[in-house]
Amino acid sequence: MIRYPLARCHASPRPGMLRRWILQLLLTLPLAASAALAADADLAAGKSRFEKLCVACHGKAGVGREGRAPRLQQRPDLDAGFIRQRIVEGKHGEHAMPPWGTVLDAATVDRLVAYVSWLAARDGAAAGATLTPFSLDDAERIAAGRKRFNKTCAGYCHGHDGVGGRAPDFRGRSELTAQFLYDTIYHGREGADVMPPWGDALSEERIWELVAFLRHLGALPAD
Ligand code: HEC
Repeated sequence: MIRYPLARCHASPRPGMLRRWILQLLLTLPLAASAALAADADLAAGKSRFEKLCVACHGKAGVGREGRAPRLQQRPDLDAGFIRQRIVEGKHGEHAMPPWGTVLDAATVDRLVAYVSWLAARDGAAAGATLTPFSLDDAERIAAGRKRFNKTCAGYCHGHDGVGGRAPDFRGRSELTAQFLYDTIYHGREGADVMPPWGDALSEERIWELVAFLRHLGALPAD
Protein backbone atom coordinates (compact mmCIF):
# COMPACT_ATOMS: atom_id res chain seq x y z
CA MET A 1 0.00 0.00 0.00
CA ILE A 2 1.41 3.26 -1.11
CA ARG A 3 -0.71 5.41 1.17
CA TYR A 4 0.83 4.55 4.51
CA PRO A 5 4.42 5.67 3.85
CA LEU A 6 3.15 8.70 1.96
CA ALA A 7 1.03 9.79 4.88
CA ARG A 8 4.16 9.70 7.02
CA CYS A 9 6.16 11.80 4.62
CA HIS A 10 6.50 15.44 5.47
CA ALA A 11 3.87 17.54 3.93
CA SER A 12 5.19 17.68 0.37
CA PRO A 13 4.29 16.49 -2.16
CA ARG A 14 0.65 16.25 -1.30
CA PRO A 15 -0.34 12.59 -1.47
CA GLY A 16 -3.42 13.42 -3.50
CA MET A 17 -1.36 15.16 -6.15
CA LEU A 18 1.17 12.38 -6.27
CA ARG A 19 -1.54 9.79 -6.64
CA ARG A 20 -3.13 11.78 -9.46
CA TRP A 21 0.25 12.07 -11.09
CA ILE A 22 0.88 8.33 -10.83
CA LEU A 23 -2.56 7.64 -12.20
CA GLN A 24 -1.93 9.99 -15.10
CA LEU A 25 1.39 8.31 -15.80
CA LEU A 26 -0.25 4.89 -15.78
CA LEU A 27 -2.86 6.16 -18.19
CA THR A 28 -0.43 7.83 -20.61
CA LEU A 29 2.24 5.12 -20.68
CA PRO A 30 0.22 2.63 -22.73
CA LEU A 31 -0.81 5.47 -25.05
CA ALA A 32 2.81 6.45 -25.62
CA ALA A 33 3.75 2.82 -26.15
CA SER A 34 0.98 2.25 -28.66
CA ALA A 35 1.95 5.44 -30.52
CA ALA A 36 5.49 4.09 -30.78
CA LEU A 37 4.15 0.75 -31.96
CA ALA A 38 1.99 2.47 -34.57
CA ALA A 39 5.02 4.42 -35.80
CA ASP A 40 7.01 1.18 -36.03
CA ALA A 41 4.19 -0.48 -37.93
CA ASP A 42 4.06 2.46 -40.35
CA LEU A 43 7.79 2.21 -40.93
CA ALA A 44 7.58 -1.53 -41.50
CA ALA A 45 4.65 -1.12 -43.90
CA GLY A 46 6.50 1.69 -45.69
CA LYS A 47 9.61 -0.45 -45.96
CA SER A 48 7.76 -3.36 -47.50
CA ARG A 49 6.10 -1.03 -50.05
CA PHE A 50 9.41 0.56 -50.81
CA GLU A 51 10.92 -2.86 -51.44
CA LYS A 52 8.21 -3.66 -53.97
CA LEU A 53 7.97 -0.32 -55.76
CA CYS A 54 11.17 1.61 -55.35
CA VAL A 55 14.27 -0.58 -54.93
CA ALA A 56 14.55 -1.37 -58.65
CA CYS A 57 15.67 2.23 -59.10
CA HIS A 58 16.74 3.44 -55.66
CA GLY A 59 18.46 0.28 -54.45
CA LYS A 60 17.78 -1.70 -51.32
CA ALA A 61 17.28 0.54 -48.29
CA GLY A 62 17.66 3.46 -50.68
CA VAL A 63 21.40 3.07 -51.19
CA GLY A 64 20.94 4.46 -54.70
CA ARG A 65 21.83 2.92 -58.04
CA GLU A 66 24.32 4.49 -60.35
CA GLY A 67 22.70 5.75 -63.53
CA ARG A 68 19.18 5.08 -62.27
CA ALA A 69 18.13 6.94 -59.17
CA PRO A 70 19.74 8.88 -56.35
CA ARG A 71 20.52 7.58 -52.92
CA LEU A 72 17.80 8.29 -50.36
CA GLN A 73 19.45 7.19 -47.13
CA GLN A 74 21.39 9.69 -45.02
CA ARG A 75 20.12 12.63 -46.98
CA PRO A 76 19.48 15.34 -44.40
CA ASP A 77 18.72 17.68 -47.31
CA LEU A 78 15.50 15.77 -48.06
CA ASP A 79 12.59 16.95 -45.95
CA ALA A 80 9.26 15.19 -45.62
CA GLY A 81 7.44 17.75 -47.79
CA PHE A 82 9.83 17.30 -50.69
CA ILE A 83 9.84 13.52 -50.32
CA ARG A 84 6.04 13.52 -50.44
CA GLN A 85 5.99 15.75 -53.50
CA ARG A 86 8.44 13.52 -55.41
CA ILE A 87 6.48 10.38 -54.53
CA VAL A 88 3.15 11.93 -55.51
CA GLU A 89 4.26 13.85 -58.62
CA GLY A 90 7.35 11.96 -59.76
CA LYS A 91 9.81 13.77 -61.96
CA HIS A 92 10.34 14.08 -65.70
CA GLY A 93 13.81 14.09 -67.14
CA GLU A 94 16.56 11.94 -68.51
CA HIS A 95 16.22 9.69 -65.47
CA ALA A 96 12.53 9.91 -64.76
CA MET A 97 10.66 8.90 -61.65
CA PRO A 98 7.06 7.76 -62.10
CA PRO A 99 4.33 9.63 -60.18
CA TRP A 100 2.57 7.51 -57.56
CA GLY A 101 -0.10 9.95 -56.47
CA THR A 102 -2.81 8.43 -58.64
CA VAL A 103 -1.79 4.82 -58.05
CA LEU A 104 -1.39 4.68 -54.27
CA ASP A 105 -3.89 5.65 -51.60
CA ALA A 106 -3.11 8.42 -49.13
CA ALA A 107 -2.27 6.07 -46.26
CA THR A 108 0.26 4.20 -48.39
CA VAL A 109 1.89 7.46 -49.48
CA ASP A 110 2.08 8.48 -45.80
CA ARG A 111 3.88 5.24 -44.93
CA LEU A 112 6.33 5.65 -47.80
CA VAL A 113 7.02 9.23 -46.72
CA ALA A 114 7.58 7.99 -43.14
CA TYR A 115 9.99 5.29 -44.28
CA VAL A 116 11.95 7.45 -46.72
CA SER A 117 12.16 10.26 -44.13
CA TRP A 118 13.52 7.73 -41.65
CA LEU A 119 16.09 6.51 -44.19
CA ALA A 120 17.05 10.07 -45.05
CA ALA A 121 17.56 11.01 -41.40
CA ARG A 122 19.44 7.97 -40.21
CA ASP A 123 22.86 8.91 -39.01
CA GLY A 124 25.38 6.48 -40.33
CA ALA A 125 28.44 8.31 -39.03
CA ALA A 126 29.07 5.62 -36.45
CA ALA A 127 28.64 2.83 -38.95
CA GLY A 128 30.67 4.24 -41.81
CA ALA A 129 29.30 5.91 -44.89
CA THR A 130 26.24 3.73 -45.32
CA LEU A 131 23.33 2.24 -43.49
CA THR A 132 25.11 -0.79 -42.06
CA PRO A 133 23.54 -2.99 -39.41
CA PHE A 134 26.90 -3.33 -37.61
CA SER A 135 30.35 -1.79 -37.66
CA LEU A 136 32.30 -2.77 -40.76
CA ASP A 137 35.43 -2.94 -38.58
CA ASP A 138 33.97 -5.73 -36.45
CA ALA A 139 36.54 -8.56 -36.62
CA GLU A 140 33.92 -11.29 -36.29
CA ARG A 141 31.88 -9.87 -39.17
CA ILE A 142 35.00 -9.59 -41.31
CA ALA A 143 35.82 -13.23 -40.51
CA ALA A 144 32.27 -14.32 -41.38
CA GLY A 145 32.48 -12.34 -44.63
CA ARG A 146 35.82 -13.93 -45.47
CA LYS A 147 34.46 -17.43 -44.94
CA ARG A 148 31.47 -16.73 -47.15
CA PHE A 149 33.60 -15.02 -49.77
CA ASN A 150 35.95 -17.98 -50.05
CA LYS A 151 33.04 -20.39 -50.21
CA THR A 152 30.79 -18.49 -52.57
CA CYS A 153 32.72 -15.88 -54.52
CA ALA A 154 36.28 -17.14 -54.75
CA GLY A 155 35.48 -20.19 -56.87
CA TYR A 156 33.28 -18.13 -59.12
CA CYS A 157 35.77 -15.52 -60.24
CA HIS A 158 37.54 -13.71 -57.49
CA GLY A 159 40.27 -16.02 -56.22
CA HIS A 160 41.01 -17.09 -52.65
CA ASP A 161 40.97 -14.09 -50.32
CA GLY A 162 40.19 -11.91 -53.31
CA VAL A 163 43.54 -12.31 -55.03
CA GLY A 164 44.55 -14.01 -58.28
CA GLY A 165 41.09 -14.67 -59.69
CA ARG A 166 39.65 -13.77 -63.05
CA ALA A 167 38.27 -10.54 -61.62
CA PRO A 168 40.44 -7.69 -60.35
CA ASP A 169 42.16 -8.18 -56.97
CA PHE A 170 40.64 -6.56 -53.93
CA ARG A 171 43.77 -5.91 -51.89
CA GLY A 172 44.70 -2.26 -51.78
CA ARG A 173 41.42 -1.20 -53.37
CA SER A 174 40.60 1.39 -50.75
CA GLU A 175 38.69 3.40 -53.37
CA LEU A 176 35.83 0.89 -53.32
CA THR A 177 33.29 2.40 -50.97
CA ALA A 178 31.02 0.34 -48.76
CA GLN A 179 28.01 1.57 -50.65
CA PHE A 180 29.47 0.70 -54.03
CA LEU A 181 30.40 -2.79 -52.85
CA TYR A 182 27.00 -3.41 -51.30
CA ASP A 183 25.24 -2.20 -54.40
CA THR A 184 27.38 -4.31 -56.73
CA ILE A 185 26.93 -7.47 -54.67
CA TYR A 186 23.22 -6.90 -54.29
CA HIS A 187 22.41 -6.00 -57.89
CA GLY A 188 25.30 -7.63 -59.74
CA ARG A 189 26.92 -6.07 -62.76
CA GLU A 190 26.05 -6.03 -66.39
CA GLY A 191 28.57 -5.33 -69.10
CA ALA A 192 31.56 -7.09 -70.59
CA ASP A 193 32.07 -9.10 -67.40
CA VAL A 194 28.80 -10.15 -65.91
CA MET A 195 28.56 -10.54 -62.17
CA PRO A 196 25.40 -12.24 -60.94
CA PRO A 197 23.18 -10.41 -58.44
CA TRP A 198 23.14 -11.85 -54.91
CA GLY A 199 20.36 -9.75 -53.48
CA ASP A 200 17.87 -12.59 -53.47
CA ALA A 201 20.27 -15.30 -52.38
CA LEU A 202 21.92 -13.53 -49.46
CA SER A 203 20.37 -11.59 -46.60
CA GLU A 204 21.22 -7.94 -46.10
CA GLU A 205 23.39 -8.88 -43.14
CA ARG A 206 25.35 -11.50 -45.08
CA ILE A 207 26.01 -8.97 -47.85
CA TRP A 208 27.26 -6.42 -45.32
CA GLU A 209 29.62 -9.06 -43.93
CA LEU A 210 31.05 -9.53 -47.42
CA VAL A 211 31.39 -5.75 -47.68
CA ALA A 212 33.21 -5.70 -44.30
CA PHE A 213 35.65 -8.31 -45.59
CA LEU A 214 36.23 -6.53 -48.90
CA ARG A 215 36.77 -3.19 -47.12
CA HIS A 216 39.27 -4.99 -44.89
CA LEU A 217 41.10 -6.32 -47.98
CA GLY A 218 40.95 -2.88 -49.57
CA ALA A 219 42.84 -1.41 -46.61
CA LEU A 220 45.68 -3.98 -46.93
CA PRO A 221 48.65 -3.13 -49.15
CA ALA A 222 48.32 -4.46 -52.70
CA ASP A 223 50.72 -7.28 -53.55
C1 HEC B 1 11.89 4.12 -62.60
C2 HEC B 1 12.82 4.44 -61.53
C3 HEC B 1 12.26 4.98 -60.21
C4 HEC B 1 11.35 4.38 -59.37
C5 HEC B 1 10.62 3.07 -59.58
C6 HEC B 1 11.25 5.25 -58.24
N1 HEC B 1 12.07 6.32 -58.38
FE1 HEC B 1 12.31 7.84 -57.01
N2 HEC B 1 13.55 8.79 -58.32
C7 HEC B 1 13.96 8.30 -59.54
C8 HEC B 1 14.82 9.28 -60.17
C9 HEC B 1 15.49 9.15 -61.54
C10 HEC B 1 14.90 10.38 -59.29
C11 HEC B 1 15.68 11.68 -59.51
C12 HEC B 1 14.78 12.65 -60.22
C13 HEC B 1 15.49 13.97 -60.43
O1 HEC B 1 15.52 14.77 -59.47
O2 HEC B 1 15.96 14.18 -61.51
C14 HEC B 1 14.10 10.04 -58.13
C15 HEC B 1 13.95 10.86 -57.02
C16 HEC B 1 13.29 10.48 -55.86
C17 HEC B 1 13.27 11.28 -54.66
C18 HEC B 1 13.97 12.62 -54.48
C19 HEC B 1 15.46 12.38 -54.29
C20 HEC B 1 16.35 13.52 -54.67
O3 HEC B 1 17.58 13.37 -54.49
O4 HEC B 1 15.88 14.54 -55.19
C21 HEC B 1 12.56 10.57 -53.75
C22 HEC B 1 12.25 10.99 -52.32
C23 HEC B 1 12.12 9.35 -54.38
N3 HEC B 1 12.61 9.33 -55.66
C24 HEC B 1 11.36 8.37 -53.76
C25 HEC B 1 10.88 7.25 -54.44
C26 HEC B 1 10.00 6.28 -53.84
C27 HEC B 1 9.49 6.33 -52.42
C28 HEC B 1 9.71 5.35 -54.80
C29 HEC B 1 8.77 4.17 -54.71
C30 HEC B 1 7.40 4.46 -54.42
C31 HEC B 1 10.45 5.71 -55.98
N4 HEC B 1 11.14 6.86 -55.72
C32 HEC B 1 10.44 4.98 -57.15
C33 HEC B 1 13.62 7.10 -60.10
C34 HEC B 1 12.70 6.20 -59.57
